[in-house]
Amino acid sequence: TVVGAGNVGATCAHWIAARELADVVLVDIVEGMPQGKALDLMQARPIFGFNVEVVGANDYEATRDSQITIITSGIPRKPGMSREDLIATNQNIVAQVTRQVVEKSPDTIIIVVANPLDAMCYVAYKVSGFSPRRVMGMAGILDTARFKCFIAMELGVAVEEIQAMVLGGHGDEMVPLVSCSNVSGVPLADLLPPPVIAALVERTRKGGGEIVSLLKTGSAFYAPAAAAVQMSEAILKDQKRLAPVSAYLTGEYGLEDIFFGVPVILGAGGIETIMTLQLTQEERAMLSKSADAVTKTRDLLKM
Ligand code: NAI
Ligand code: 2OP
Repeated sequence: TVVGAGNVGATCAHWIAARELADVVLVDIVEGMPQGKALDLMQARPIFGFNVEVVGANDYEATRDSQITIITSGIPRKPGMSREDLIATNQNIVAQVTRQVVEKSPDTIIIVVANPLDAMCYVAYKVSGFSPRRVMGMAGILDTARFKCFIAMELGVAVEEIQAMVLGGHGDEMVPLVSCSNVSGVPLADLLPPPVIAALVERTRKGGGEIVSLLKTGSAFYAPAAAAVQMSEAILKDQKRLAPVSAYLTGEYGLEDIFFGVPVILGAGGIETIMTLQLTQEERAMLSKSADAVTKTRDLLKM
């Protein structure tokens, strides 16, 4: 199930179908729109030759017994808005959607995309009553992809050569880990001078905002959808991928009762393990600042 058939949701459906990962039910409140997009995708099947079903709906009947539910429903940012400005509207939407999803698919694994991401994961977690292993948020894979993309562009090397990881909340305080970044094993710090690395870190932190200012209406969707689809694939195929995901913490990294971007192993059970990394003192301080911001936003939920 993909809830929200807007930019991110429709792109998720497109890539899930094109990669033949699963049948998709695309749900939206706008009448006809998810049905129209689903039918359009079905008509692409003879051209690309993929054989999964995509259906659109305005209710949840067709979503029954979904293995995975991606929640993208919510309003996106406009230029000048922070992710936190979306909180009141999106809290209501995510809560209402989660209730309906869970009623039809009590065993589903929920991947939240709606912003402010870490807080919306908290809403889905509380409303679903699920184990924290089955509720998670997409942000770290996207933020890491942006960091890798900027490093590759700076060095003029293939993106496949770059290893990197971005942890923390999905906000401007996120923490690109320079200590874990390398190009085919060569530490980033050996390849680029500190001011250039600092600029890449800063561009990553503001990566979502850069796209919002360019698009002017709405926010990024190709890379966000790719990231949500990669998470779904890891779960559906029990791949045991190590990836940064917004996960519910119960003491890991010294943090409790918040969703926060940490490295996890993703498999058939959802979040199977939360990995604890050895970080530098500076990185630990940055994570703590990011956690403060996420905690403040969680408190606005009053849940
Ligand atoms: P969009 O506006 O294109 O699509 C949102 C869709 O949700 C609309 O079609 C709307 O009709 C639908 N919707 C609203 N209320 C609904 C409800 N109660 N039930 C079902 N559908 C409902 O927005 P876009 O670009 O797809 O972004 C969606 C959300 O994802 C935003 O909150 C955005 O900030 C967030 N986002 C998060 C990212 C992340 O890294 N976690 C990356 C990109 C977007
Ligand atoms: C992004 O980072 C808007 O959160 C979204 O692109």
